Amino acid sequence: MRMVDLIEKKREGLELSEKEIEFVINGYTNNQIPDYQVSALLMAIYFQGMTNEEATYLTKSMLYSGDIIDLSEIAGIKVDKHSTGGVGDKTTLVLGPLVASLGAKLAKLSGRGLGHTGGTLDKLESIEGFNISLSEEEFIKQVNDINIAVAGQTKKLVPADKLLYALRDVTGTVPSIPLIASSIMSKKLASGADVICLDVKIGDGAFMKTIEDARELSKIMVSIGRSLDKKVTAFITSMDQPLGFSVGNRLEVKEVIDTLKGNGPEDLENLCIEIAAYMVYYAEIADTIEEGKRMAKENLTNGKALDKFYEFISAQGGKITDLEDFINVKSIYEYKAKESGYIKTIKALNIGLASMKIGGGRETKDDTIDPSVGVVLNKKIGDKVKKGDVLAKVYLNKDISDEIIGELNEAFTITKDVQEKTPIVKEIIN
Ligand code: URA
Repeated sequence: MRMVDLIEKKREGLELSEKEIEFVINGYTNNQIPDYQVSALLMAIYFQGMTNEEATYLTKSMLYSGDIIDLSEIAGIKVDKHSTGGVGDKTTLVLGPLVASLGAKLAKLSGRGLGHTGGTLDKLESIEGFNISLSEEEFIKQVNDINIAVAGQTKKLVPADKLLYALRDVTGTVPSIPLIASSIMSKKLASGADVICLDVKIGDGAFMKTIEDARELSKIMVSIGRSLDKKVTAFITSMDQPLGFSVGNRLEVKEVIDTLKGNGPEDLENLCIEIAAYMVYYAEIADTIEEGKRMAKENLTNGKALDKFYEFISAQGGKITDLEDFINVKSIYEYKAKESGYIKTIKALNIGLASMKIGGGRETKDDTIDPSVGVVLNKKIGDKVKKGDVLAKVYLNKDISDEIIGELNEAFTITKDVQEKTPIVKEIIN
């Protein structure tokens, strides 16, 4: 087989076979095919797309490029979730303890945040003592003991994705839907769960900007999962504004605790109940999705999900002794409405950038994070406001700058027209 023939085949819009895709991935991970040829193929894929079968072959080849976590020692059906990344996205920290409190087994490997989106590991590590480096044995034992563990991804998980992603990043080929689908699904499948719930975000702060693209990505991922005998559901959800009110690591953990006490923001709570319902249904704990929803709502108010959260945090060495002292900042800047009306936009991208720039996130992989800083919204899209009302509070350990105020100015728009509030879950694709 010659790489140049495969590039030409894809350039002409023809379908690559399983053997041909394996040849590319094996050759690339073994340093036998150079970057420039793989770059050309990626660009051909970007323009010509891939069939569901090709995307499945690509996912499988990537999956087998590294370790596959064996969760067979965990009794029962294992559930996992993945979010395509958003601002204020603390879903895992609510959903995980919630489904674990209902008896589902959540064995999750997570990543760090980069740019304007936050990562679950960063939120967990903002809790003093929390350990994300579990060995495979510790990880499995903890899920068997308390139904939940969240750890960092090892370097050996899907090495082909690391190589390909780095190349996509510098060749303008990140936004290819089949490439995104196989990148996400190879990592999820390598993590070993039986049930995978995918939270596909749409909006200005997300990878997918339109419902059509989100639908296409969801359908490919569900099809890949199904052909590998997994139960996969994709939830297309809004990232038109940050999820919940809080953006920033400890601020988000605090909001997680509020939500587990039954006092969380409506959008976050609804999203977690919806995904939890599918997880417990697929895990054969609830007979129907409706029953799953009812069970999830119950454990968000009876304290069981909250107890499970603290059990999970302490099992991994974390301590939250005093919630009042948890957020430690020098000052809080109040950003106020410049006119009266209805909130039309709170652009997630700008809120995420503001939080990152004050130290709540990373611009580059080596940046350190200030766990206490961030932005807490006071209002959401559709809310009525008066001139001078506080729209957001910025938790700071340095002085507020014009740049940060500029991001907030960009994020918020106010209009005289009444704005409709839209549901967080736009579509569910099975
Ligand atoms: N997230 C991933 O893991 N891979 C992509 O290609 C895009 C988003």
